[in-house]
Amino acid sequence: MTRLPRKIIIDTDPGQDDAVAILLALASPEDIEVLGLTAVAGNVPLALTERNTRIICELAGKPEALVFAGCDAPLKRRLVTAEHVHGQTGLDGPQLADPVMPLQAQHGVDFIIDTLRQQPEKTVTLCPLGPLTNIAAAFLKAPDIVDRVQEIVLMGGAYFEVGNITPAAEFNIYVDPEAAEIVFRSGVPIVVMPLDVTHKALTTRPRIEAFRAMGTEPGRMVAEWTDFFERFDMQKYGSEGAPLHDPCVIAWLIRPELFSGRHINVEIEVQSDLTRGMTVADWWGVTDRPANALFIGDLDAAGFFELLTERIARL
Ligand code: RIB
Ligand code: CA
Repeated sequence: MTRLPRKIIIDTDPGQDDAVAILLALASPEDIEVLGLTAVAGNVPLALTERNTRIICELAGKPEALVFAGCDAPLKRRLVTAEHVHGQTGLDGPQLADPVMPLQAQHGVDFIIDTLRQQPEKTVTLCPLGPLTNIAAAFLKAPDIVDRVQEIVLMGGAYFEVGNITPAAEFNIYVDPEAAEIVFRSGVPIVVMPLDVTHKALTTRPRIEAFRAMGTEPGRMVAEWTDFFERFDMQKYGSEGAPLHDPCVIAWLIRPELFSGRHINVEIEVQSDLTRGMTVADWWGVTDRPANALFIGDLDAAGFFELLTERIARL
């Protein structure tokens, strides 16, 4: 029996790695139906993340995609951005023309609410690739939609890898820890792609050259984005290559067998200034706190890049 494509909403703060994730999703119609993309403030301010999202959809040849602007700041805190990683535009690397396709007039949070109410229950998966502000705002505004969500598959958090924006916290969770607490306590089935696994999804020179060798505009863009994006991690970690964080979310939807993890309890630190945004992951089962997330720790990196290359070559 052929499997129907999974219906998803991508919530995103492009970011070069978000861009690769969106391209992978839009290149995989047999596996994924993208109902819409909601931009959130994160790597760069909202005005840029919504613009970048439209640029990426046009690059994928999908100007008909529905792109919405969501929240421009965290629920309770000042926005923290990451231009030091992604550049001033959020998509530094190649020169990019302004998008032509329209931004939808509806607020991204209302699109999430309406879509979950209109689609049959438990048939829509939310794929947050940035701070969880839009998701939490939707749950707060319309509590009735929480039980209608099929699954949340998100990039965020860390346990063995600890933090990348502070010693204790990963960026997406750090920016809006209150939103993350709402999501992780919502009761919705959650799959987490933390730094523990995304730091194993590293670009290498041959992997980047495989994108450039496609001879396509998307392939060239991915090569130039990852060339730019890797410099930060190489300086910081001394590692070869850039961790392709967000594409792990989409790759899991297509080929979950590439990944492994544990169903454990994950709580979010929101009180301490020192450890705000830390994902306190009970990997070793030392508490009796109920498991609320499939926390992914490992992947078949060769298989991941094989999938990425095969699918993006389609565009
Ligand atoms: O910490 C990595 C995450 O923060 C990725 O989603 C990246 O795009 C940024 O949003
Ligand atoms: Ca992101």
